[in-house]
Amino acid sequence: MERLRIENKSNPLGVDVPRPAFSWQLRAAANNVLQEAYRLQIARDERFASLIWDTGKMVSDQSVHVVYNGPELASRTRYFVRVRVWDTHGVATEWSKTAYWETAFFSASEWTAEWITPQAAAIDPDAAPCHLLRKTFVVGRKVKSARIYATCLGLFELHLNGRRVGDLQLTPGWTSYRHRLQYQTYDVTDQLFEGDNALGIVVGNGWYKGMLTWHNKVNLFGDRRAALLQLHIIYEDGGEEVVATDATWKAATGPILMSEIYHGETYDARLEKEGWTEAGYREEGWCPVEVLKRPKEILVAQENPPCRIIQTIKPIGVIRTPSGDTVLDMGQNMVGWVEFRVEAAPGTRIVLRHAEVLDRDGNFYTGNLRSAKQTIEYICKGGGVERFAPHFTFQGFRYVAVEGFPGEINPDDFTGQVVCSDMEQTGSFTCSEALINQLQRNIEWGQRGNFVDVPTDCPQRDERLGWTGDAQVFIRTAAFLTDVASFFAKWLRDLKADQLPNGGVPHVIPHVLDENSHSSAAWGDAAVICPWTLYLCYGDKRILEEQYDSMKAWVNYMRMQGDDEFLFNTGAHFGDWLGLDAKENSYIGATPFDLIATAFYAYSTRLVAKSARILGKTGDAESLEKLYENIVDSFNREFVTPNGRLAAHTQTACALALMFDLVEGKAKERTAAALVKLVEAAGYHLTTGFVGTPYLCLALTKAGYHDVAAKIVMQQDYPSWLYPITRGATTIWEHWDGIKEDGSFWSDEMNSYNHYAYGSIGEWFYRIVAGIDTDEDRPVYKHIRFRPHPVAGWSFAKAVLQTLYGEVRSEWAVNEADSGLLTLSVAIPANTTATIELPPGFIFADTGRASFELGSGAYTFTLRRL
Ligand code: BGC
Repeated sequence: MERLRIENKSNPLGVDVPRPAFSWQLRAAANNVLQEAYRLQIARDERFASLIWDTGKMVSDQSVHVVYNGPELASRTRYFVRVRVWDTHGVATEWSKTAYWETAFFSASEWTAEWITPQAAAIDPDAAPCHLLRKTFVVGRKVKSARIYATCLGLFELHLNGRRVGDLQLTPGWTSYRHRLQYQTYDVTDQLFEGDNALGIVVGNGWYKGMLTWHNKVNLFGDRRAALLQLHIIYEDGGEEVVATDATWKAATGPILMSEIYHGETYDARLEKEGWTEAGYREEGWCPVEVLKRPKEILVAQENPPCRIIQTIKPIGVIRTPSGDTVLDMGQNMVGWVEFRVEAAPGTRIVLRHAEVLDRDGNFYTGNLRSAKQTIEYICKGGGVERFAPHFTFQGFRYVAVEGFPGEINPDDFTGQVVCSDMEQTGSFTCSEALINQLQRNIEWGQRGNFVDVPTDCPQRDERLGWTGDAQVFIRTAAFLTDVASFFAKWLRDLKADQLPNGGVPHVIPHVLDENSHSSAAWGDAAVICPWTLYLCYGDKRILEEQYDSMKAWVNYMRMQGDDEFLFNTGAHFGDWLGLDAKENSYIGATPFDLIATAFYAYSTRLVAKSARILGKTGDAESLEKLYENIVDSFNREFVTPNGRLAAHTQTACALALMFDLVEGKAKERTAAALVKLVEAAGYHLTTGFVGTPYLCLALTKAGYHDVAAKIVMQQDYPSWLYPITRGATTIWEHWDGIKEDGSFWSDEMNSYNHYAYGSIGEWFYRIVAGIDTDEDRPVYKHIRFRPHPVAGWSFAKAVLQTLYGEVRSEWAVNEADSGLLTLSVAIPANTTATIELPPGFIFADTGRASFELGSGAYTFTLRRL
């Protein structure tokens, strides 16, 4: 048994879930192994002498999300957990390796700390420089353990006794700050000294108070930055002491003269306050702090994986552009920042500007950043080697223009630090086609660059917002590549918090746009599609429980619009955003709004009906099922002719009708045939935008036209997934023609080179080509549905996915000697079962059958093409 996890985390600190869930993985040498029973124990001590919960032997095959059901847990306490299992082969394991978790605060009243900020009379709250807050304190005796719980209004960095605390970035993360604010927990036992100690907090504007949206609005959540910190010191002798932010702290400003998410940072190293987070420092010129009244009821412990530097990359070269800029090429469009070292005279000003692409003449291009400056200015203090990386900002870039650097640029002095939510990698896909493998890497980088605490649309221009539509189209692909369960669970709680009283869903979460910016079809549906996808991929019913009211409210919102409760045909929508069948000078594709909106209305209603069934809400389920039938009927009356022809003649309209099962019988056949015709007429190219693109290939394969889907995917000329790769793309572009064939750009206005939405084709590779799919009735891969679909002309494809049960693998390869034969290898983890279903035209060579049920194990089969 392995990977005993608490809330799907390994030995987490700072958990405020009152009843956490436990998951583990079985390992078995034999095939066909299921868990027959388990026994779980929770104790206050590592030796399990003081048990607080013992399930006894539970006859059950449940090994994921076993929810704690013992006595109420105490806050700020470490609990130990272990498990043993019995399998269906009669094998009983020993107790597992002990795991643990530590609770955080369960009630706001446990926060004795006060919100503090520099006194306004001394430091103008609206002035750009970041704040420094400081406090010395005495540690009297030997420390057993020490924890800091801290957060801020803004962004913060913590220091203790001259050292940075932890390795988290962009804390406390971005939530719907009016309703929810995360705090972080740090183990600082080893950073305390007996005697005098000092704490320091640096606070910047961040998303809370800094510039946001293309209007560069400030103070969106509040007009004062502030910090809140509580250090709990537990002494060896059992005593406890608390050091907290209060009126006794001191404040100042320091070297960070400006730090803004979009615009970068200005840092004057000459203003550094040497030793300011050490006890011996003399607080000359520091001012008192003010205690602010700000809510503590909104505080929640860290929920999602925090942001970290997850990777570093070195420049691949230095370019001298025709217009004279010296530019580092990172070789990869990345998100984070550049750390550099420099030795220069005091006052030397170094400027780094960041861009995603060079223009067709090879010059540095920042037009597509719009108002975002993405500029780092560093003023040297002199006297030796200095190192710098910015604090409360991030940049989206491949190229870095360097000014003011002394002497020849040595690429070795620069390191790209890739910053994003530190999620566990779970999936990989490779195949025989080099360009597809590059596409896969671009999809991965698109996710890395845009999962920066919230799922954003893009990481470079003056936007970087939690666009709901983008998140919705990409979530299934994301859930294959990394473990996104808690990343999205946190964001969905913000969605629920920001949802309008009438169920409308803001376009971006956290909601920072104006009050009319809500409830576009396919964007608002994130409220339903995202929790449903998490349930499918991770199987935790609690996400449906938590989000159910929000999901249902969105469906109800759609029902209440207009004068026909079964059509969604009013309101403002983005339509098939950026579809290529848009009219000249329009961003909006040709598929009618009301068709898209009604199609999604039907789809979301069906998903909420299913969720109601799963949650045992039978009454709701019945009325939602009825509603769904009525919407489908109305869809057919409104958009399908009596002869079964879909009235809207676009790829997107056909794809939606097929994917969401809105057409049946003759209409279904005609819709599939119409889709194929449209694709043929476009020379096997897509014309779809944000709404149709994720479904186009899925719909074609589903309708029996896998070869047509594969042809679209393999196109290399515009418009196609591979076209940008032929132009050197290392991420997914917002526009199919971000860089045109003649090398010119689509436009300055809205042209991101790092938008993950079209990366949603990933789902087709993993679920269809490699064929790893879930089963709605037994989600989280408890029952795996292998449905591989070989692609003509490819010699192999392989996908590996780390599920909560263990590794799932599917791999097919064409036999080198006889192309009529293929081998198919699959791996099925213990405590799961699988069905292999072959696509039309294939059978198992030995049995002649087309499907197969299997228990756990690793297997290889020979397939024959018919
Ligand atoms: C964003 C999108 C978003 C769209 C909505 C754009 O500015 O970058 O990805 O979904 O607006 O229309």
